[in-house]
Amino acid sequence: MRIPIIAGNWKMNNTISESLALVDGIKSNKLDEEVEKVVAVPFTSLSEVKKALEGTDIKLAAQNMHWEDSGAYTGEVSPLMLKEIGTDYCIIGHSERRQYFNEIDESVNKKIKSALKHGIKPIVCVGETLEERESGKEEIVVKEQVLKALEGVDKEDIKNIVIAYEPIWAIGTGKTASSDDANHMCGFIRKTIGDKYDENTKESVRIQYGGSVKPSTIKELMSKEEIDGALVGGASLVAGDFVKLVNY
Ligand code: PGA
Repeated sequence: MRIPIIAGNWKMNNTISESLALVDGIKSNKLDEEVEKVVAVPFTSLSEVKKALEGTDIKLAAQNMHWEDSGAYTGEVSPLMLKEIGTDYCIIGHSERRQYFNEIDESVNKKIKSALKHGIKPIVCVGETLEERESGKEEIVVKEQVLKALEGVDKEDIKNIVIAYEPIWAIGTGKTASSDDANHMCGFIRKTIGDKYDENTKESVRIQYGGSVKPSTIKELMSKEEIDGALVGGASLVAGDFVKLVNY
């Protein structure tokens, strides 16, 4: 049984006070206990949001990290810093980081290994561009991203990793992949992981869909066999919508 996981990716939104207001809005509602809930907040809000989440079962995520523990890397944040705050998850390899900040498969791989070493669970993002989809290359692209991300990662560690399939053309565009396409690609990722590891790992790895997920589309997506959760940007910024997503 794979536990469903709904994660809100706030991206570069919300100051500390705005973050606390959003968490308050979320907390004041009844949330499904059988769904794992995660908020991925800006670095500056991590500490305060962690305190605000005390006594709830909502998990805390960062949106990126460096792979080194410390050093001369101006402007970067290390896994030790995240760990001390009590960060449970870290989004790694989000397409916006790949697109705007030179994130490549090699750095994604280093970050995943470092996060695992420090007990931070990576939410690893993969997904094709519109051009790649239109030329029928989505499986080739996504397979390569998954295999490069997981290079040298032990089978035992896969239970601590969540994969998020996020077709780039569906992020922030209002275009959701059809639930069948999303299901197909999540199944394809599962098969790729099964071929690399084994049947157990294949069945246990959790795979989310992300890209313009809304309260109106979540139920259909979550009814699909291969989709274990959602990574949600825009709709996670409104407390009521996030609550609806969790309580799908
Ligand atoms: P979106 O973002 O829901 O706003 O499309 C998803 C994501 O980038 O994780």
